[in-house]
Amino acid sequence: MRSIITGSGIGIPKNVVKNEMLARIMDTSDEWIRTRSGVEQRHYVDDGQGSSDLGMLAAQAALDAAGRTKDDIDAIVFATMTPDHFFPGNGPVVQAKMGFKESTPTFDIRQQCSGFLYGLELADSLIRSGKYSRVLLIGADVHSPFMPWQNGWDVTIGLEDREVTPKEYEENTKIRDRTVLFGDGAGAVVVEGSADDDGPGLLATRLFTNGSNIEALFVPGIGFRRRPFVSHAQIDANEFIPIMEGREVFKQAVHKMPEAVRVVCAEAGVAPSDISLLLIHQANLRIVEAVAKQLDLPPEKVPHNIERYGNTTAGTLPILFHECRQSGLIEPGMLVCFTALGAGLHWGAALYRA
Ligand code: ACO
Repeated sequence: MRSIITGSGIGIPKNVVKNEMLARIMDTSDEWIRTRSGVEQRHYVDDGQGSSDLGMLAAQAALDAAGRTKDDIDAIVFATMTPDHFFPGNGPVVQAKMGFKESTPTFDIRQQCSGFLYGLELADSLIRSGKYSRVLLIGADVHSPFMPWQNGWDVTIGLEDREVTPKEYEENTKIRDRTVLFGDGAGAVVVEGSADDDGPGLLATRLFTNGSNIEALFVPGIGFRRRPFVSHAQIDANEFIPIMEGREVFKQAVHKMPEAVRVVCAEAGVAPSDISLLLIHQANLRIVEAVAKQLDLPPEKVPHNIERYGNTTAGTLPILFHECRQSGLIEPGMLVCFTALGAGLHWGAALYRA
């Protein structure tokens, strides 16, 4: 039994935010953002539009591409670190709003940038257990609500046209290392069981977690070790905004992802040089290039789209996979490898025969 991806789709919000728009509200520049991260623009949702909404757009497109209806789906896996509500997760939201059957259980997982990889492992395990035949896997995140919108962020999406105050400018500049990297977006795939053990499908997956330094990338406030779990004091101290030790995460990413790719290649009995396409989590173009270099893979085997979307966390890998399929980069028989690393730290890789 192998798990094959039979359809994919994406959900991208309409508001395009170019680097120049961010440079209007904080001390940054298009040149800094491009050269340090590769990002040229990102998309932001409208107020009131959540990761479930983007996920539903992606899910419907994936179902259509797979030629499946909602009744064909046995389970839904929703990967996000930015759900509509603290609880429940987005699974039941999507299940009800899209009109899936009540007998379609939903799994909500939150492994941040590795969410799609963990979701693939889960979908594959559900299918190979024999209990489920078709799983809809959605990866979606909306980062724009993390931003301090009271500090003139409406300027970024054209809702206001004004100069921000010096105080707002200063506050936004304090978090410029993170805010410029992220965007909103979703991708989804339909995963189905195939009886052909020698045909296309997932060949190997390997996941890792090291929670010994969660402070390298985390949200310090708004959590249940506090009474109450959310307070004005925490909000005034900006404790809802993620903290990131950028250099530390960068270092981990460029070491751990190539290692994980080598592990899945060894497990499947292939060499990294046999990989036709390496789809790397899009956190920073310099990370993508460093991982490709370590694996000795030429640029044409390592596509990227960070310039258009920034980092969309759980949305990143399925968006990239979908765009590669759409543009004809993925042909039957090709060896496609996924890899990601993110908050947790969680990381891993998956090897897939198209
Ligand atoms: N505009 C202008 N200058 C900036 C900006 C900005 N947006 N951000 C930081 N700087 C400045 C810094 O203040 C610093 O100035 P200084 O030298 O005067 O002190 C200078 O640029 C260099 O800062 P560094 O932090 O050393 O820059 P670096 O080259 O390391 O790039 C970055 C920072 C882009 C954050 C990088 O470290 C990175 O990409 N890290 C990994 C991110 C990642 O992979 N995240 C994981 C996934 S996210 C998830 O799981 C949710």
